[in-house]
Amino acid sequence: MSKELIRLRGCTMAFDGDVVLNNIDLNIRDKEFLTLLGPSGCGKTTTLRIIGGFTVPTSGDVFFDGVRINDLPPHKRNVNTVFQKYALFTHLDVFENIAFGLRQMRPKLTKDEISRRVFEMLEIVSLRGFENRDVSRLSGGQQQRVAIARALVPRPRVLLLDEPLGALDLRLRKDMQNELKRIQQAMDITFIYVTHDQEEALAMSDSVVVMDGGEILQIGRPEDIYNEPENAFVADFIGESNIVDGVMISDGTVEIFGRRFECLDRGFSPSEPVDVVIRPEDVDIVPLRDGMLTGTVTNIIFKGVHYDIIVDFKGFKWLIQTTDMSPVGGRIGIKIDPDGIHVMPKSRYSGMFGDYSSYSAEYDEISDVAAEAETGDAREE
Ligand SMILES: Nc1ncnc2c1ncn2[C@@H]1O[C@H](COP(=O)(O)OP(=O)(O)OP(=O)(O)O)[C@@H](O)[C@H]1O
Ligand SMILES: [Mg+2]
Repeated sequence: MSKELIRLRGCTMAFDGDVVLNNIDLNIRDKEFLTLLGPSGCGKTTTLRIIGGFTVPTSGDVFFDGVRINDLPPHKRNVNTVFQKYALFTHLDVFENIAFGLRQMRPKLTKDEISRRVFEMLEIVSLRGFENRDVSRLSGGQQQRVAIARALVPRPRVLLLDEPLGALDLRLRKDMQNELKRIQQAMDITFIYVTHDQEEALAMSDSVVVMDGGEILQIGRPEDIYNEPENAFVADFIGESNIVDGVMISDGTVEIFGRRFECLDRGFSPSEPVDVVIRPEDVDIVPLRDGMLTGTVTNIIFKGVHYDIIVDFKGFKWLIQTTDMSPVGGRIGIKIDPDGIHVMPKSRYSGMFGDYSSYSAEYDEISDVAAEAETGDAREE
């Protein structure tokens, strides 16, 4: 594991007394791809601006390579930024856009050196052959690559990226996600990336930092964040989750809906109330008599690889992903293996997420359509 490069220690940011970052601690390793992930307004851009030197925290310290840099201006930090609105110089071609920063360097670089470095960057962002093109005649994805090349050409040790793919359509976003990861590895530097898109965060990052309300809720590898969310907010924000109330009976046994389930979690107090998260892909459908729980299918949607079905268990609606067709109205049994059950302590987010009748806009719409169809049927009778 590489060594620490950046450290935020006890950083708080307040605007007119409003605390928007609350005492955050964050260590960023050299050459890692770290993503700040969270809903709008949670403090991602503010955190990035503190690292970039555009914002000085109200309190707390910022260290770069062990040196406190609170008062170091942005241009003296070994950091560069790609913004969502990449603001290219539209009157300059691709070459000149990338060369722009190099031409400002003192001592001056030679013409050959500038050309060599621009072409090296064109190669890295796969824009060789586009050097004389006006940037206004590039696609969105190509413009984004120019912005990245321009930020990378001075060879910063850290690149900050604030929702750089926000303006691109989904397909291009996916391509650029792979590209960014490849570029980060080719440059062998640290990327600090901001997004509110959890899929993007999971796909690209070495570390994901989940934020909400100016606080860091969890830091970890994508797998850890997905498999071991620390509270209901993280479980809900990362992927699809059924989150239900439970009681931890003892190490390895949790009770949900009055039934006891074996799980891998331990270390809770006896009879401690908990939140239990069950991912839709971890639920097996079994014959009714073999079910640990039984429920009624209320919706089914074909998703290509699998079906999403919504199943009502005592009024609580779960999302289950299955390759088996289960008709609406049918009763099914379910089984969950111990490693498909993840127990979390109660938190301020308990009870806010995880029931598919109340929270998913997509499914609300579908239920409305289903309800209309039912009314229609009733009229025909
Ligand atoms: N200069 C400022 N003055 C006052 N409030 C600010 C300022 N900059 C940010 N804020 C507030 O701080 C909070 C966090 O803002 P920030 O831009 O860091 O959020 P974000 O996580 O990047 O959100 P988004 O995903 O919408 O970009 C918001 O409530 C915002 O209104
Ligand atoms: Mg932002």
